[in-house]
Amino acid sequence: MKKKFSVVVAGGGSTFTPGIVLMLLANLERFPLRSIKFYDNDGARQEIVAEACKVILKEQAPDIEFGYTTDPKTAFSDVDFVMAHIRVGKYPMREKDEKIPLRHGVVGQETCGPGGIAYGMRSIGGVLEIVDYMEKYSPNAWMLNYSNPAAIVAEATRRLRPHSRILNICDMPIGIEGRMAQIVGLKSRKEMQVRYYGLNHFGWWTSIEDLKGNDLMPKIREHVAKHGYVPSSTNEPGVEASWNDTFAKAKDVWALDPSTFPNTYLKYYLFPDYVVAHSNPEHTRANEVMEHREKHVFSSCAAITKAGKSSAGELEIDEHASYIVDLATAIAFNTQERMLLIVPNQGAINNFDPEAMVEIPCLVGSNGPEPLTVGKIPLFQQGLMSQQVAVEKLVVEAWIEKSYLKLWQAITLSKTVPSASVAKAILDDLLEANKDYWPELK
Ligand code: NAD
Ligand code: G6P
Ligand code: MN
Repeated sequence: MKKKFSVVVAGGGSTFTPGIVLMLLANLERFPLRSIKFYDNDGARQEIVAEACKVILKEQAPDIEFGYTTDPKTAFSDVDFVMAHIRVGKYPMREKDEKIPLRHGVVGQETCGPGGIAYGMRSIGGVLEIVDYMEKYSPNAWMLNYSNPAAIVAEATRRLRPHSRILNICDMPIGIEGRMAQIVGLKSRKEMQVRYYGLNHFGWWTSIEDLKGNDLMPKIREHVAKHGYVPSSTNEPGVEASWNDTFAKAKDVWALDPSTFPNTYLKYYLFPDYVVAHSNPEHTRANEVMEHREKHVFSSCAAITKAGKSSAGELEIDEHASYIVDLATAIAFNTQERMLLIVPNQGAINNFDPEAMVEIPCLVGSNGPEPLTVGKIPLFQQGLMSQQVAVEKLVVEAWIEKSYLKLWQAITLSKTVPSASVAKAILDDLLEANKDYWPELK
């Protein structure tokens, strides 16, 4: 019989938690579970999600032990995997990350530019705390981290917890590859083999083949040149307008290097003027998420708990989150699956900082990831990535040294910011807004 695993979801109150629980239940055959726990530092928020998940688990998998807690010892004892998706400061702080830069005419985004930097300064401490709980109470466990901003969080763990068993991963390449598969008429992204390199939310595909080795790039290129990553010329149902715009804008981002395909997040760095012109400083993505996803998940959860049956709500499985099970099974059963992870470069990209955290294909087994060689990258990408990785490193140094100067340098160096004076004005507003979360800067 296969071993059964014990998992704790950190950030149990996340809007993504129910979708992930449903996804875990759909994958029990390849990733058997004996226990699921939730941990969050906001007990009231977590309880709403957890009580609904309790109903679902009772219906679908009564043998799996379930519990939720705000107590680290209870949460992190006897676990094999920590699945971490925390958002330090929650949506009200995301809203500030987005709106403050926009007030200064600069991109306001969750993970890119000054907003991402502010979020990074909040997240580092929260994520390190979870790593430390894991190591204290379950020293053999692995942490699968997708808390954002993943690039900055990954750099912080590289610097401050270099020997910890933590894997940083992002779902954006997975989402884009799903669209590419649709474009070429394949059922799943798993029917493609890709080469990709970059930083998190900052990378490029250089090769896409089917499993027989046929080059799929020409067909995808033909489509992307016209429609970006929007699979047909009409809008897909269920995709929000703002995301649809991002997938369509990939057409312009792609044009800067037509031999590759870009991560959609590059639009914030390469077309910041366009992004600002198409933003509403009074109503940003955080508002959309609070009005839609958060409301939907929390009202569904409340309805399920009240009725005592899952049919009372409309919670949906997060299909593409099955990459988390791919990653967990790779570790648990040494599958050597090839996945894109955020790992120390160490020569994989040979003309790039060996001490940078890069997003590249790795083979994943019981002892962690083995990165594949990328080789030499072109000057355009190397230049962009060097600037961005310096931003990410400066943020982590600013957090460690509590340095106002380094944080000002980081914001100034971001390609989204026009000058040091604008950077300073944004920084001073962000500092005021984040006093309860950032270390006190000198
Ligand atoms: P959310 O605000 O709904 O949930 C986050 C939860 O984390 C909240 O319940 C909050 O109370 C909790 N939390 C905050 N600080 C904590 C701490 N120090 N310890 C324990 N719990 C803490 O947010 P969401 O929109 O569902 O997103 C959750 C996270 O997942 C975010 O970081 C988001 O950026 C990230 N995410 C990443 C990817 C990826 O590709 N890497 C994809 C989707 C979401
Ligand atoms: C993608 C990215 C995540 C990001 C999310 C934001 O999945 O990879 O890193 O957190 O988008 O989505 P949202 O719907 O919250 O704006
Ligand atoms: Mn991501």
